[in-house]
Amino acid sequence: MWRRLSFRTQLFLPLGASLLAALILGGILLQIFAAGQVADEHEPARRSIQTIAAALNSTLRASDNPQKTLDAFVQSLDASTDIQFRRMDGGPPPSPKDLRNLKKVPQWFVNLITIPEMEAAFPIVIDGRHVGDIVFFPDISADLFEKWIGFLALTSLVAVLMVLTGTVAYVFAGSALRPLQHLGDGLTRIRRGDYARPIPVGGPPEIRQSCEEANALAATLAQLSQDNRYLMHRLVSLQDDERRDLARELHDELGPLLFSIRAGTIALTDASEPTGHLGNSAQDLLQSVEALQQTNRRILDRLRPLYIEELGLSSSVQTLLRNFRKQAPHIVLTDAIDRDLSAIGGPLAQTVYRVIQEALTNVLRHANAGNAHVQATVADKTLVVEISDDGGGFPADNVFGRGLTGMHERVRALSGSLSLLRVDDRTYVRCRLPAETMRDVPSPG
Ligand SMILES: Nc1ncnc2c1ncn2[C@@H]1O[C@H](COP(=O)(O)OP(=O)(O)O)[C@@H](O)[C@H]1O
Ligand SMILES: [Mg+2]
Repeated sequence: MWRRLSFRTQLFLPLGASLLAALILGGILLQIFAAGQVADEHEPARRSIQTIAAALNSTLRASDNPQKTLDAFVQSLDASTDIQFRRMDGGPPPSPKDLRNLKKVPQWFVNLITIPEMEAAFPIVIDGRHVGDIVFFPDISADLFEKWIGFLALTSLVAVLMVLTGTVAYVFAGSALRPLQHLGDGLTRIRRGDYARPIPVGGPPEIRQSCEEANALAATLAQLSQDNRYLMHRLVSLQDDERRDLARELHDELGPLLFSIRAGTIALTDASEPTGHLGNSAQDLLQSVEALQQTNRRILDRLRPLYIEELGLSSSVQTLLRNFRKQAPHIVLTDAIDRDLSAIGGPLAQTVYRVIQEALTNVLRHANAGNAHVQATVADKTLVVEISDDGGGFPADNVFGRGLTGMHERVRALSGSLSLLRVDDRTYVRCRLPAETMRDVPSPG
């Protein structure tokens, strides 16, 4: 739950909670100590009034006319002071004065403080008769007002602090999160293999360091990826060189030998009795030699794409398609080969040829298809080669064999991509190659 909250909320919540706790604690402390403090503050006044009552009683005892003395004393009392005289014979009870300023203080605050009973009455006696009481009515309105102002100050301080810390947290979270966002986006780019755009370095030192490390990682990965492509390119080139050498050996060494055996056999056939035992054997030998020559030519075709350099890629591919049609007349093969393909040479042309060759061999061997389509187009500096068939599709647990693996290696060596798809009951082998790649062959370092 907590983890799902945003960074800003995670920052705000504890700050807000601690400030609110401080406010509540302030309220509780006010409630505990304010009432006692008010009582303590009025205690000296209460004692003074007790002394006044005792003095008045002594004066009355000594006076000739105590009633008159008492009346004079009562007259002298100011209605606004905390001290009042309450006669025993009734009369209006002194109005409590502690509500004078209370209208400025809300009632809930007064209830919160729970002021203790502080009124006190001291009896006044004339000739042994209790004539009334000197009553102490402390005016606590000023104290309450003071506490209320204190409480308001505390609340305002907490509110201002909350707004301030909230703003600081918001701004801080924003400035801390932005570089983190950049870092996250950059790491996603790196994961997708885009090492070119560096992550902007910013924010607090810890995040800056992470950004710099991620940029260094991207540089290393870019280097490794380039080395990898170079190695794969070397591998594929070596394979092609080896095939070419093998093809040359087969053509130059085996070709003449087979030719001379064939010529010898023909001579032998001509010299012997056609119906004799030797004649039959010579005929068989001639057939075997011719079959061997055909096989040799087929192997040569596979080993060395038919004169791509001389004929151009477009014509070589057309020859490949023609051979396929001859070899598999039951499969209807259509094609859309871009004429611009002839301008392509080098390893890119080899790769296109090999991809089409291997994909068509797979259609023939594995697809059980009724029709197939070969497409090779150049658009926006991207060469797209696509071979599709209406066969059964790749088996669920399809594992790359030598053919698809080789295809993949070739395509990756040229920074291209290979995808095997199944759309609308058709199987697609699609490969995209950057058309300009091979002009700048990757090299290590
Ligand atoms: N066009 C296709 N239709 C159905 N299955 C295919 C097709 N192309 C390849 N496959 C499957 O992919 C596997 C691997 O192919 P590949 O790497 O060329 O190896 P190989 O052809 O030597 O078996 C094949 O064995 C086959 O099961
Ligand atoms: Mg294959």
